Amino acid sequence: MPATLSTDSTLVRPLTAADVPAFEQLAWDALAGAGRRYGFSLGERNPARVAWAQARVRHLSATDPAGAFVAEQDGEPVGIALALRRGSFWFLSLLTVAEGHQSGGIGRQLLDAALRTSEDAERAMICSSPDPRALRRYGRAGFALHAALDAKGQPDRTAVPTDLGVREADWDADHDFAESVFAAGRGEPYGPDLAWLRSQGMKLFVRDGATPSDRAAVVASDGQIGPLAAASPEAATRVLWAALAAVPPETDARIAYITGQQQWAAEVALAARLPLSVAGALCTRGYVAPPAPCLTSEVFG
Ligand SMILES: CC(C)(COP(=O)(O)OP(=O)(O)OC[C@H]1O[C@@H](n2cnc3c(N)ncnc32)[C@H](O)[C@@H]1OP(=O)(O)O)[C@@H](O)C(=O)NCCC(=O)NCCS
Repeated sequence: MPATLSTDSTLVRPLTAADVPAFEQLAWDALAGAGRRYGFSLGERNPARVAWAQARVRHLSATDPAGAFVAEQDGEPVGIALALRRGSFWFLSLLTVAEGHQSGGIGRQLLDAALRTSEDAERAMICSSPDPRALRRYGRAGFALHAALDAKGQPDRTAVPTDLGVREADWDADHDFAESVFAAGRGEPYGPDLAWLRSQGMKLFVRDGATPSDRAAVVASDGQIGPLAAASPEAATRVLWAALAAVPPETDARIAYITGQQQWAAEVALAARLPLSVAGALCTRGYVAPPAPCLTSEVFG
């Protein structure tokens, strides 16, 4: 860990459009550094990933300007935080401090600024990295910490069950159905975030079974899976398998933030031969436990 730094010269201010390239790069570098320390990999930083990551920052700074902050020291970018608010639900999408400036209180200042939009939220969530400073701050800010697993690798296609009863949805026709399933899961629909995921070319898979407990929806593309919500673990299991079956050949799938509440997802990961690792915590406020037949999107909650 770097030495503790004084925070006297830190300026925390709202993020502007001109900040996006430099602060997105900062966030990538800080998370890649955390990955080296705590045993996870972000994968290759290629132009498509950069475009996606910058578009995500632009999207959230447009929908939630009151939750988007950067930190500077003497004009140098040193940190970024992005939080979103959807109705009664709040989510921290990004919090990073540049290596060389960590452990000096900047993360705490950024988090405190971002948390302001959570003050009257009924429910709040954060997908925490394994960084002990992140876990400490989220726990001290009143979040319950639920240890989480990550499943990542190429799924064993021979393990995919037949007759899943899941179809690739039509984004227009099935939008309201999917939002109703998501809203029942986490308490609020995704709204502009679902539209953004669609604009990024992601697919929507749904199970619209005959009974209310037999409904589920998942957004997935190129191995990226989530958000996922369902009315039962059985329906959740079916759409998760459908998302794994749609992963292109030679491509890793990733199921992120599987807590003890999501044994059904751990079982799918094991059956699909995806290696599991311990990967941080799902942090919740206002929930009795993490919503069980759901998988949280680490970008949108
Ligand atoms: C996690 C991160 C944002 C924290 O920001 P930071 O500026 O480094 O941390 P702070 O100095 O604000 O310290 C946060 C807390 O951790 C404590 N802390 C500092 N060093 C620590 C250490 N080595 N181990 C445990 N706790 C430590 C601090 O005392 C502080 O707690 P307190 O406010 O109750 O005293 C930053 O370290 C980072 O970017 N890490 C890599 C990327 C990452 O994992 N981001 C989180 C994604 S969810």
